[in-house]
Amino acid sequence: MKIWLCLFCPALAWAQIGDGPVVPQHMDQAEIESGAISFDDIMEHGELLFTAKFNTYDGQSRPGTTGGGVAREVGSAPRFIRTSAPDSNSCAGCHNDPAPGGAGDIVANVFVLAQTLDPVTESVGADFSNERNTLGMNGAGPIEMLAREMTADLQGIRSDARSEAQSSGADVSRDLIAKGVHFGRITAHPDGSVDTSQVSGVDPDLIIKPFHQKGAVISLREFTNNAMNHHHGMQTVERFGVARTGTNDFDQDGVTDELTVGDVTATSLWQAALNTPGQVIPNNTAKARAIIRGEHRFAATGCADCHVPFLVLENPSFSEPNPYNPAGNLQVSEVTHTFEFDMTQEGFLPRLESTGDGRAIVRAFTDLKRHNLCDDDYQHYCNEQLVQAGVSTEEFLTRKLWDVGNTAPYGHKGDLTTITEAIHFHGGEARASRDAFFALDQNGRDEIVEFLKSLQILPEGTPDLVVDEHGSPKNKQSLAKIHGSDLPMHRMDP
Ligand code: HEC
Ligand code: HEC
Repeated sequence: MKIWLCLFCPALAWAQIGDGPVVPQHMDQAEIESGAISFDDIMEHGELLFTAKFNTYDGQSRPGTTGGGVAREVGSAPRFIRTSAPDSNSCAGCHNDPAPGGAGDIVANVFVLAQTLDPVTESVGADFSNERNTLGMNGAGPIEMLAREMTADLQGIRSDARSEAQSSGADVSRDLIAKGVHFGRITAHPDGSVDTSQVSGVDPDLIIKPFHQKGAVISLREFTNNAMNHHHGMQTVERFGVARTGTNDFDQDGVTDELTVGDVTATSLWQAALNTPGQVIPNNTAKARAIIRGEHRFAATGCADCHVPFLVLENPSFSEPNPYNPAGNLQVSEVTHTFEFDMTQEGFLPRLESTGDGRAIVRAFTDLKRHNLCDDDYQHYCNEQLVQAGVSTEEFLTRKLWDVGNTAPYGHKGDLTTITEAIHFHGGEARASRDAFFALDQNGRDEIVEFLKSLQILPEGTPDLVVDEHGSPKNKQSLAKIHGSDLPMHRMDP
C-alpha cells in the first residue's frame, strides 16, 4: 500500500468511501521547514495523529517487530495484547485526562519493558514489567527546553573542567549545578578522562532526560517514535525506514513508510504546544486562604527542595529537533531549518508565563533530578524489579506537580488514591520533609493538600494561568498579602 503525500488534494481524500486509513494525508518535513505549512495546520495534524484510532490501512500492528523495535518471527504475538502491546488504538486512549494530551486513569497503565520481551509476556507480575501510570504532557514543551538548557550547563562545566585539567596537568573537581539544582561532582583528569562516580540524579553523560518517570527519554520526539511503534505498531520512517533497516516495511504488516518525518514533527510540536498547567483559586475565602497558606507551608516543610516551585527558562522558544536526540530520531544535522516557536506567544492557551525580559517561568514543581524515596520504614516507591535504561530501580524523577490537582491517581504506578497517601510514602531522601509534613497539625496538612489540589491543567483556551472556579483571573499577590502575612514568605517570582 502506498502512503498518500496528498497534502494539497483534500478533495480526493474526501471522495474516498468505505474503509480506509484514519490518517489519509501525511505531512512533509521539507514543507514544514520551508514555512509552507502554517502553525495551525501543524497543530491540527499533530492532534489528528495523537487522537487517531489507527487501523489496518494506516499500518496498525507490527507482526514482525517487538514493541522495543527489534525484529521477531512474524505472527509470534497477537495483534493486540494488553501487557506488551499493541495495547490501545490511539495515544489519547491513555492520555485523555482531563483532555487529549493529558494523564490517565489506572486502567491506562503501561507495563513498561514488557514490550522488549519476545515472545511477549502474558504476565503483569513485577518480575516481567514495571507498571506505570499515564502522565500528562501539558507543559512538556517548557520541560523539554529546561532539560536542554540544564544539559548544556552541566556539559559546559564538564568541558571547562577537562580543559583546565589538561592545561594545568592536575585533577580538577567541579560541582555540577544547573539552574540551582545540584547533581553531585565530577573530577577531570589531565588525560582527558572524567570521573563521574560522584554524579547524582542524572546519567554519567550529563544529559537531563525529562521524560518517563524514570528520566529515561530525552525528547517528545524520541518518546513519540518509541510510543508509535510500541503502542500502535505504527512505524516512523526516521526510526524504521529504509535508511536504518534496509526495508520500508520493517514490521511486515504490508503497509510501507507508515509515518513520515513531518508526521513525527507535528505530533511532537502539538504536545510541546499544549496548554500550560495553571492554578485554580476558588472565590470561597476559606479555600483561597488555605491554598495561599499551603503554598508557604509546602516550602517550609522542605517539599520545595525537590519540587522546586519554578525554574527560569532563558530562551522561551521551543525548537525541533532536539540537539541531544539519540540515533533513530531526527537530528539537527538532517534539517535545513529547525522549527521554532515562542511558547509565550504561540500554542494553546494558557501559555507559558513570560518574565517580561525575554525569559520564561516554568512553575512545574520539579528539579528534573532523580531521587530515592525509600528507607527502612517506607518502601512503597521501591516496588519495581526491572532496571530501565541503566537507572537504579529505586530512583525516580521528582514528579512534576503542576497538574497534580486534576490528574489522580498518584505515584508512578497510580496505585495511590489521595495526595496524603502519596506524601506518606516519601521516605529516603524525602524523609525529613515527609516527617515535617506529618508533624503539622491536621489543618496545616490540609492547607498543603488544598494548595496541591489547586495546581491543575486548565481548560484549553483559558487566557490566564491563575483563575477562579469560573476561569476568571485571580490576583495571587494581593491574596498572598491578605492570607499569608504571618507566614515566612518564600520567593514566588524570579
Ligand atoms: C497504553 C497507554 C498509553 C498509550 C497508548 C500511550 N501512552 Fe504515553 N505514556 C503512558 C504512560 C503509562 C506513561 C508514563 C511512562 C513512565 O513513566 O514510564 C507515558 C508517558 C508518555 C510521555 C512522557 C511524559 C513525561 O512527562 O514523562 C510522552 C511524551 C508520551 N507518553 C507520549 C505518547 C504518545 C505520543 C503516544 C502515542 C503514540 C502515547 N504516549 C501513547 C501511557 C500511554
Ligand atoms: C527528595 C525529593 C523530594 C522531596 C523532599 C519531596 N518529594 Fe514529592 N516526590 C518526589 C519524587 C521522586 C516523587 C515521585 C515518586 C514516585 O512516584 O516514584 C514525588 C511524588 C510526589 C507526589 C505524587 C504526585 C503524583 O502525581 O503522583 C506528591 C503529591 C508529592 N510528591 C508531594 C510532596 C510533598 C507535599 C512534599 C513535602 C512534604 C514532597 N513531595 C517532598 C520527590 C520529593
